[in-house]
Amino acid sequence: MEKEILISRERIRERVKDLARQISSDYEGKSPLLIGILKGSVFFFADLVREISIPVDIDFIGASSYGSQMESSGKIRLTKQVDSLLCARPVILVEDIVDTGLTLTHLVKTIESNSPESIKICALIDKLERRERTVCVDYCGFQIEKGFIVGYGLDYNEKYRQLPDIYIIK
Ligand code: IMP
Ligand code: MG
Repeated sequence: MEKEILISRERIRERVKDLARQISSDYEGKSPLLIGILKGSVFFFADLVREISIPVDIDFIGASSYGSQMESSGKIRLTKQVDSLLCARPVILVEDIVDTGLTLTHLVKTIESNSPESIKICALIDKLERRERTVCVDYCGFQIEKGFIVGYGLDYNEKYRQLPDIYIIK
């Protein structure tokens, strides 16, 4: 498969630091619960959390929307529930990429039903072209118009997650 670098590891690192700084200042005096959405957000999540300077708790939720193609199936399967109590907690959902918006819309609803104090969304990539649901990305790493990308947690058929940079498939 032909691919070329779209976002280098250096640019990712800088942007992750910016997001972490912003979160640390917005949540000063609070201790938010950061929930990473498995599996795509794991590397972003680990890097982000380690740059945050205020106390945080971490948890994970598992969601799967893709079969083996580049098109979203539209059906969201919950593969792991959060372990933490969410009631009255400030929650930040951390996602790799927002595409149609169906996954996040579904997960926000699931989390809202547990009465958190607030929910914000942090996404490494906001991909605009195929949006079907309005999603408010409070902390956004990079916006791209379209294309299919892999690396830094993002997969094609479960492959390429381990690449340190983000590539666009040609
Ligand atoms: P949505 O429900 O359509 O917003 O899809 C979100 C999920 O689709 C992400 O968490 C990714 O797992 C996957 N996805 C969407 N676009 C891409 C891409 O360009 N590369 C890799 N995965 C993608
Ligand atoms: Mg995926």
